[in-house]
Amino acid sequence: MTADDLKTQFRQQSQAALSLNVAYIGVVNGLFTTLHRLRQASAQALAEAAGIDPGYVLRWCDAAYAFGYLDADGDTFRLTPQGEAMRPEAPDTLMPMAVQSVLSAHMAERAAGLMRNGERPGEQVLAERQTVLPWFGPMLEATFGPMFEHTICPAVPVFAEVDARGGLAVDLGCGNGWYLRALARRCGKLRGLGIDGFEENITQAQALARQNGLSDRLRFQHGDIHALTLDEPADLIAMNRALHHVWEKDTQTLFAWLRANLKPGGAVVIWEPAWPAERRALREPSRRGMAFQNLSEHVQGNHFLRPEEIQAAFAQAGMTATVHLFAQGNEAVVVARR
Ligand SMILES: C[S@@+](CC[C@H](N)C(=O)[O-])C[C@H]1O[C@@H](n2cnc3c(N)ncnc32)[C@H](O)[C@@H]1O
Repeated sequence: MTADDLKTQFRQQSQAALSLNVAYIGVVNGLFTTLHRLRQASAQALAEAAGIDPGYVLRWCDAAYAFGYLDADGDTFRLTPQGEAMRPEAPDTLMPMAVQSVLSAHMAERAAGLMRNGERPGEQVLAERQTVLPWFGPMLEATFGPMFEHTICPAVPVFAEVDARGGLAVDLGCGNGWYLRALARRCGKLRGLGIDGFEENITQAQALARQNGLSDRLRFQHGDIHALTLDEPADLIAMNRALHHVWEKDTQTLFAWLRANLKPGGAVVIWEPAWPAERRALREPSRRGMAFQNLSEHVQGNHFLRPEEIQAAFAQAGMTATVHLFAQGNEAVVVARR
């Protein structure tokens, strides 16, 4: 490859990143949603309807037009199919990619600076960007909710058992509560308790449970997984992309807690990205994002786990665990019983 070829390749990659940055600005300010509702509008009318500054909206419209999210007829804009697909409400929305792209840029900047002294500030790094944190839950829900409902639930027998058994499901590190909402919709007899360390997530989870008519069965409260007391033992304890957040602190105590807080016959279900056994597997395009994310997880005091490590931790706590792999082996669901 010549130097010019390399420049062309990197220019294309950099345009893809810029395109997602432009989309992010529209997503978090409701511009795609508002323009969809108006069908077509001038930048001024769009700004008024969205309740934001017209000067910024005019510049955003030009950028969104340049990257193909908007078409223009004179000074009147409307969404292109790409713009429609970026709406957070669109089926199979592209919104998570836009949010992830800006979050990744933030984490890269933090990792670059912190690498010099080895400091790992922890979870609060996510909250350093005012506009990102509220989109963290919706991003995860849009990315993993459909996989849970359509692929994981039908393939992992524990979910049919939960439906038959009812009782209490506890979701540790519940984010915006999408998992408990999905479970409660499937399992009419199930109650849920979600715990998360970010107030923002709990506020969203409570509001979404209310909007979905599920607040009589689902409770969400702010709390720390490491310092939690349950009022009653659980039939199901779930951790989705949360175990790697608490793994480095005191794994043995956590796994003993999981076992102690489970009813006989109950199950712990852990869903985690599956860190591959071999480094060369990271070169596969489907795993590159995971490799970057593991670097940004380091900033937060975390690292990704191999499914066998999770299985071994359960064994040490006296529980037998089964690993189910999905998404070309990149997603692991580990089910353990007392
Ligand atoms: C990657 S997110 C996953 C969120 C959610 N389970 C989902 O699948 O969308 C990890 C979550 O764990 C929460 N978390 C991390 N450490 C925690 C702790 N010690 N106590 C409570 N929540 C914690 C974070 O606030 C975050 O919402």
